Amino acid sequence: MDFSRLTLLILLLVVTACKNTEQPKMGIIPQPSEIKYQEGVFAINDKTVIFVGNNIEAPQITNELGSFLKDNFNLSLELSTVVQDNAIHLIKSGEDGENGAYSMTIGKEGVVIKGSTDQGIFYGVQTLKQMLSPKVGVKEPVLNFVSIQDSPAYKWRGMMLDVARHFVPKDSVKKVIDILAMHKLNKFHWHLVDGIGWRIQIDAYPELTNKGAWRKVKGDKKPWEDFEITSKDAEGEVYGGYYTKEDIREIVAYARERYIDVIPEIEMPGHSEAALQCYPEFSCDTDVITGVYCAGNDGTFQFLQNIISEVVELFPNEYLHIGGDEVGKESWLKCDKCKIRMQREGLQTAEELQSYFVKRMEKFIHSKNRKLIGWDEILEGGLPERATVMSWRGVEGGIEAANAGHDVVMSPGDPLYLDHSQGKSEYEPPSWGGYNNVLKIYDFDPIPKDIALDKKQHILGAQGNLWTEQVKSLSHIQYMMLPRISALSEALWTKADKKNKEHFIKKLDVHFDRLKELGYNFSGSSLTPDYDVSYDKINKVFGLSLHNELDFYEIRYTLDGSNPTVHSELYAGPIEYATSIELNAMCFRNGKPIGFPLKKMFSTGFGDQCKVIYGNAYDETYSGGGDKALFDNKFAIARGDDPSWQGIPQKDFEVLIDLGSATELSYVGLNFFQDIGATSVMLPTQVIISISMDGENYNTVLDESIATQEKREPIIKHIGSEFEKQEVAYIKIIAKNRSVLPEWHLRKGPAWIFADEISVK
Ligand code: ACM
Ligand code: ZN
Repeated sequence: MDFSRLTLLILLLVVTACKNTEQPKMGIIPQPSEIKYQEGVFAINDKTVIFVGNNIEAPQITNELGSFLKDNFNLSLELSTVVQDNAIHLIKSGEDGENGAYSMTIGKEGVVIKGSTDQGIFYGVQTLKQMLSPKVGVKEPVLNFVSIQDSPAYKWRGMMLDVARHFVPKDSVKKVIDILAMHKLNKFHWHLVDGIGWRIQIDAYPELTNKGAWRKVKGDKKPWEDFEITSKDAEGEVYGGYYTKEDIREIVAYARERYIDVIPEIEMPGHSEAALQCYPEFSCDTDVITGVYCAGNDGTFQFLQNIISEVVELFPNEYLHIGGDEVGKESWLKCDKCKIRMQREGLQTAEELQSYFVKRMEKFIHSKNRKLIGWDEILEGGLPERATVMSWRGVEGGIEAANAGHDVVMSPGDPLYLDHSQGKSEYEPPSWGGYNNVLKIYDFDPIPKDIALDKKQHILGAQGNLWTEQVKSLSHIQYMMLPRISALSEALWTKADKKNKEHFIKKLDVHFDRLKELGYNFSGSSLTPDYDVSYDKINKVFGLSLHNELDFYEIRYTLDGSNPTVHSELYAGPIEYATSIELNAMCFRNGKPIGFPLKKMFSTGFGDQCKVIYGNAYDETYSGGGDKALFDNKFAIARGDDPSWQGIPQKDFEVLIDLGSATELSYVGLNFFQDIGATSVMLPTQVIISISMDGENYNTVLDESIATQEKREPIIKHIGSEFEKQEVAYIKIIAKNRSVLPEWHLRKGPAWIFADEISVK
């Protein structure tokens, strides 16, 4: 090929590529398979009609589009069954197509949305609505000429909502479903049952909702620490709620109109304290309810079968989730009935007994024309032959199941648990477990490499799971979902070769306004400044780099202790400093602050010459990174597993810092950690900070007693003191350890002190 032809070809490819790239302004999420722009625009006006093909059986789709145009643009469009110009045509081709596939063309004749099914048309309408929103600054709905082809990559695009830990009222559940629908997700896994709450009316067993749906509130104790059923009208503080059969039917119908299957989860054989406190006869030991059903009692199976018979009446979808996770098996090994069962069935281990349990339930569920799905523990002891596996402890269970020919839904804790925090800021609302940010979810590929080529079709898709130990309101649910569900939708709907992260970030900028217009509380964690510090040894200056996850928004900052405004210094590159600085940084979007602030003192007093002498050695497993960890410019976050914390059990935290030369200082402070809910780390009882010029005569600048805090949530406490500016060569810090955990603590044994990042100024 000669050079000019090659140039022409490259040019042509570039032009085609540009043409195929969606203009970010439209910000459609999830990204459609193919978008081609043409010259021209079509304006929807009061003469436009909605043409509805006569084979379309879903009036709610037309209603949704009609209401959207009425609410947003005050346009009341008439319906028509005559093909005409100036119309939005909804046409069902009836041809075979992927479930949910649709096409849309916008041209002189108006909008034509074609789907092979009603579901496809519904998705086309979701795309159209996104093209018309946010409506900020738009007077009338004007659409670019465009041609779109679209279909989903995966069949299972879902989210699980736990309504057991905290009850989510019916109307809030609908609001959750709305968010799934606008993102073309199609599975709503409803975790209706858990150890600390039963949430579904069962006629045969009224106590499940008379009592199992209500729990005593016991002071500051969390319900999973001390759970006791009660009744709604009992004396004292009571927490709970449940769905009547009518409520369930309403939610299922609401979801169905949005092409979302509802998968009910009835937990067994573990996580069942609520049910077993109501019906102790199905526990191995009726005096000690462990939350695990007795596998030796035929009555248990009858009880669960009766429940499932009522459940399948309410849920027409093909799957029924039986939980199966985290089953403590100690009670089985002590129970005579369970032992007899094991003998009779020739079962050697508790895992095989669990497998017997699940297989027996599977036969019943199959007889009811439903497919059993369970958490990956159902693999232990042998999987029922028709079972589908939901892989949550990583993707390994999913790989094993798929390679053995079972269908799989991926929902690994990392990165798909939505109860995990999505940012590292100390201002984040309470979360649970690890750290799953937006882009980690965006990058998730449901098909791991270890799945055999001919088994890939067994990966149905994936879902995000929102457990609600820490989540009590619709607003917090929305915060945990958004924008992570937006990222998940693109990971599951959009084919891998059409994903483009930079483009997604630009679209997210449009989407944020869309979410705002809908009144949703979305997280700005991905827009919160984060930092890195470097040190230039030759010039003896530090460099502070600021960034944020999306790196799309401006960061403004101050160094004088004030809160940044839109007029504050714009971050344009590393901030150089040779003396300590007090940074206050914030992201700004369209002139308004967004996300959380970053407020930290970055210190310069600790050069290479500086030495640290520990009175009591830190524990090697919590070294924080070694002897210089206390001033490495990495501030540990509010999590016990952050490797930046330096920890010591039982003994006092005692350090002497030899600065190596006299330095003028007027402030010394540091952070301590406590997390009663998840660790043995507690705040010290007293902190003493003293300074010295000669290493012999010390001047105490702080001696503070610290009151015990019984709060279960993690705490970072900064303890520090201002003093008259003076030359300092030595700093001594003593933090008193309470040695052993107090009686009321959830754990027993030594108390730990975690310390990090000494700031000096
Ligand atoms: C689970 O997170 N226990 C399924
Ligand atoms: Zn038993």
